[in-house]
Amino acid sequence: MKQLQLGVFASGRGSNFQSILNHTTDGTLHAEIRLLLTNNPEAGALELARASAIPDLVIRKDDFPSRDVFVETMIEKLAQHGVEWIALAGYMKKIPQEVVKVYRNRIVNIHPALLPSFGGKGLYGHHVHQAVLDYGCKVTGVTVHLVDEAYDHGPIIAQRPVPVEDSDTPDTLAARVLQVEHALYPEVLEIIAQGRLAIQGNKASILPHSMH
Ligand code: GRF
Repeated sequence: MKQLQLGVFASGRGSNFQSILNHTTDGTLHAEIRLLLTNNPEAGALELARASAIPDLVIRKDDFPSRDVFVETMIEKLAQHGVEWIALAGYMKKIPQEVVKVYRNRIVNIHPALLPSFGGKGLYGHHVHQAVLDYGCKVTGVTVHLVDEAYDHGPIIAQRPVPVEDSDTPDTLAARVLQVEHALYPEVLEIIAQGRLAIQGNKASILPHSMH
């Protein structure tokens, strides 16, 4: 089977990156991680990539003479590394619209809530779980979606619910949601690797396994 040629973008600790990587090594995800890209030289994800000999790139807009050079360089590096699909795994920067254009419908993101609720600017990390608890939601969950030009926006590929307990704190809820993230993201990427993601207009759907 053809392997998905994947670039993973991460800014933080990288547990989703590690989960994706684990599933490529145990053979349940037919993907090759061609590049770990980060804006953060301190990212845990960077250390994890280096420990597994995955090529990495630290790239920050402020290190370039202009935004255009930064964006051109990013696109060039992705091509050089043979990246065909991009998985955002806790990447804290907005994807430049030029990159969205080149990789249209080939960028996926994971969000720790059920979009379109509890998404958008400022709703990341524990802020998401705090907002869910403040609202008094009984259910939250995980969303994997294609990325367009807006924050936490684009066709939804898969969602999985997670119950909220009365005793939850943002941390306990985050931990329960994270476990589901670690399972769902590699599953969705495998569906993509199998060529079973169909996009029509602003909707994504998952095709059944082929009979052959
Ligand atoms: C995850 O909760 C993910 O949903 C969100 O950022 C967090 C990243 O965590 N987009 P990690 O760095 O993968 O551990």
